[in-house]
Amino acid sequence: MCGIVGYIGTKPVVPVILNGLKRLEYRGYDSAGIALGGGESGLSIRRASGKLRNLEALLADDPLRGDYGIGHTRWATHGRPSETNAHPHRDCSGSLVVVHNGIIENYRALKEELSAQGHVFLTETDTEIIAHLIEEENTVARCNEDIDIPLEEAVRRAVLKLTGAFAIGVISHEDPGKLVAARSGPPAIVGFGDNEYFLASDVPGILHYTREIVFLQDGDLAVLTKSGVRFSNFEGKPIVRSPQHISWDPAQAEKNGYAHFMLKEIYEQPRAVRDTLAGRLCNASGVIELPEINVSPETFQSAQRVLIASCGTSWHAGLAAKFLLERMARIPVEVDYASEFRYRDPLVSGSDIGLLISQSGETADTLAAQAEMIAKGSQTVAICNVVGAALTRKAVGTITTNAGPEIGVASTKAFTAQLAALLAFSLYAAQSRGTMTPEEIQALSQDLLKLPALMETALRSCQPVCESLAEIFANASDFLFLGRGIHYPIALEGALKLKEISYVHAEGYPAGEMKHGPNALVDETLPVVCVATKDIHDPTSVLKYEKTLSNIQEVTARGGRVIAIAVEGDNEIAKLVEHTIYVPQAREVLLPLIEVIPLQLLAYHIAVKRGCDVDQPRNLAKSVTVE
Ligand code: F6R
Repeated sequence: MCGIVGYIGTKPVVPVILNGLKRLEYRGYDSAGIALGGGESGLSIRRASGKLRNLEALLADDPLRGDYGIGHTRWATHGRPSETNAHPHRDCSGSLVVVHNGIIENYRALKEELSAQGHVFLTETDTEIIAHLIEEENTVARCNEDIDIPLEEAVRRAVLKLTGAFAIGVISHEDPGKLVAARSGPPAIVGFGDNEYFLASDVPGILHYTREIVFLQDGDLAVLTKSGVRFSNFEGKPIVRSPQHISWDPAQAEKNGYAHFMLKEIYEQPRAVRDTLAGRLCNASGVIELPEINVSPETFQSAQRVLIASCGTSWHAGLAAKFLLERMARIPVEVDYASEFRYRDPLVSGSDIGLLISQSGETADTLAAQAEMIAKGSQTVAICNVVGAALTRKAVGTITTNAGPEIGVASTKAFTAQLAALLAFSLYAAQSRGTMTPEEIQALSQDLLKLPALMETALRSCQPVCESLAEIFANASDFLFLGRGIHYPIALEGALKLKEISYVHAEGYPAGEMKHGPNALVDETLPVVCVATKDIHDPTSVLKYEKTLSNIQEVTARGGRVIAIAVEGDNEIAKLVEHTIYVPQAREVLLPLIEVIPLQLLAYHIAVKRGCDVDQPRNLAKSVTVE
């Protein structure tokens, strides 16, 4: 939800900022802009609506000169996507500019106040008031104190008046050679290079230049100059922030020959799952250790419930975790949409364990649910793909999903890595509560080690089938996705993938619910994708599968066109349905990570056939930092 890049150093500024924005474009692509300081004419700005390439074209025709600068790629919240509303935004005099990620909740009141003081606003955005507020702090200081305060002091005084969420970058030609950043909510990082310093919303934005990174914390202000970075808090007190070394390989943030990031990330799943499970399965003594979650076996023994809150794809991982935890650790689990959680005044107690699942760790709804759990006395554990993200800082412990940077807006490898982390979490909970024997834990750990290879097989075998099915079904206007038990969240995920990247209407249902209403939708034009896998060694799984087969027959009897996802060796199902996609056999609790692969590939190929922008679907952004 908006990406910021800032640079001060020895390199040509524009390419560094554009390069960074390109890698942060997943955060928003409604408009983009850049401002440079240090040129002959003070500050110069270029802005363009639409994707970054429009800004690049503008800069090619009308280049900018300067020594340092800030850039922005926008996901519109206040004010429609347009050049006027594109960042950077300036004050009345044009002496300073601001880029912003987040939402200023009190912007209307501030706008009225500033308008009464003579400020004239040109845009519909909340961000513009920040530039005017900083300008006003300068004016007030000149009048009352008879001094010109440094830019960082004006920014500091201004941010104290803001409520809401913000990460900002500011430059001013009245206090040149300086880039000021402040954070309260959305992420902001500062990168340290060789006599060069960077500001960004996320690591991929600067990973090509440095891996030495400070994650600004809420209430941090940073001043970047050519000679270094100074940190202080919003009270103006100097603070120390030491850079962390980021081990991500820049190649992970490149397409590496794949047509889209999404496809590359689908193919990275076996690696992401392997890396997420590494060190988290049975050790040489047959014991699962999970010190990073900071939850003792005793706490698991006395816990009454696990409360899960998350959004979108991460919510689907949470739904699957309910099946895993209840089955393996015999503990009741409640799963909420994070956006709903705090609005139902949930019953939370100190004997509940809160579990928040988020790829980005900065989703505002999930952070709000976490705050509600903590306020009501529960300790929280995070499952997150971003080291140092806001969610992890409030949690007592975190399982980091080692999926690497996920650039495609539609989540794929982060989802399967979350499922892998949840399997490790469930195994540890089961061990702590004594609900699985050491032998059972050992055996499941062994099977988990083989899981990435099964996912690789699924990728190989499903790819051509999904591509040809996409040819057949690309023009369908509606799809249903069905599943039962732990396969139901996977059906939901298949429907979400399809609708978000191909704009085709799709719904997920528990297979058994069809007869309670949705069967009325079935006709010979409706593709129904049914997750009908089974663990042939597990009688409960087989029973569930047989019920699902009956549901499939109810659909085919009414003319529906069923595409079944089934395990290899299941020849019977192929006789009942129009198309079958086979995946390798596995235990019931491992099947979700395998069966989701054909659903992702099907959505991907349908979107490509429909000519959609797979990596940057309309109206979406990767990190949703507003409620
Ligand atoms: C869908 C998707 C979104 C996210 C959701 C939560 O493909 O990516 O539904 O899962 O916005 O984001 P995180 O996991 O970052 O909290």
